[in-house]
Amino acid sequence: MKTIGVLTSGGDAPGMNAAIRAVVRTACENGIKVYGINRGYAGLIEDDLRELNIRSVSDIIHRGGTMLYTARCKEFREESGMQKAIATCKKYGIEGLVVIGGDGSFRGARDLSLRGIPCIGIPGTIDNDIASSDYTIGYDTCLNTIMQMVDRVRDTVESHSRCVVVEVMGNRCGDLTLNSGIAVGATAIVIPEIRDDIEKHVIDRIKRTQKTDKKHFIIMVAEGIGGVEELARKIEKNCGVETRAVILGHVQRGGSPTVRDRVAASQMGYKAVQLLMEGVGNRVVVQKDDHIVDYDIYEALNMERKVNNELYKIAHEISI
Ligand code: F6P
Repeated sequence: MKTIGVLTSGGDAPGMNAAIRAVVRTACENGIKVYGINRGYAGLIEDDLRELNIRSVSDIIHRGGTMLYTARCKEFREESGMQKAIATCKKYGIEGLVVIGGDGSFRGARDLSLRGIPCIGIPGTIDNDIASSDYTIGYDTCLNTIMQMVDRVRDTVESHSRCVVVEVMGNRCGDLTLNSGIAVGATAIVIPEIRDDIEKHVIDRIKRTQKTDKKHFIIMVAEGIGGVEELARKIEKNCGVETRAVILGHVQRGGSPTVRDRVAASQMGYKAVQLLMEGVGNRVVVQKDDHIVDYDIYEALNMERKVNNELYKIAHEISI
């Protein structure tokens, strides 16, 4: 393999830059030319790319976002878009591609591999919603950001004896909400994977806690559930406690990556290039039981995510 490409696709995540850096440096150290493709698959379709060298990726390891920019590209889902992307690869002699993103990006990588461009996927998303991997790049930074933001909100909630309902990102996955909920000592955690009678569940928990003389409450709700304003009004009415809704939004996605994200990204970027050098394509690089391993993309996309029921149980036993 003489020439490869690297792109980031889908939502940006802290640590994507560290992964790009690892891909570029590993390739250059092994005499492989690397093109950085801008704006994900859109850049591949529109011939928007540039050659990168070891110095092009200096001073990015600590930066959030992605130096290659990113996009969610509808055109790439059409055969005509895919053919344009393949033509760009042929034009620049790109024989393999590293795709950093989520499941949607992996589906694109699978389709390109099928059409003769070997691709390796690296899980990069704050959501931690990729079934094949125990961990996705950006997740740890995001969790820490949520914790810090809610710690700040807690100051007000405590000072005013209020309740706050916090909406947390994560698409349809509750991992960010569950783990940050434990970290901030939430009174109730609501995630899409466990849909009890939400209102009853939250109100019962607040009432139970009120009996222990506690006067302020943090309720963490995954964005996949939504309705935080309505829930806040119902809490006020039923529990007699002044309640605010806070939607954390995109602050959760930015910021300098944590050690965990930088290290995981470096390991995965390195491994992705090793696979391409071995002539292997159509794989995803993932973390399983603290090891970096690779799976066939088809298999990976068909795996089923499981919620950590044990963690959910612990959260509710100890948050009183
Ligand atoms: O996948 C990352 C994520 O931030 C999700 O948590 C959220 O559902 C979505 O992206 C938001 O997308 P956008 O930035 O396009 O609004």
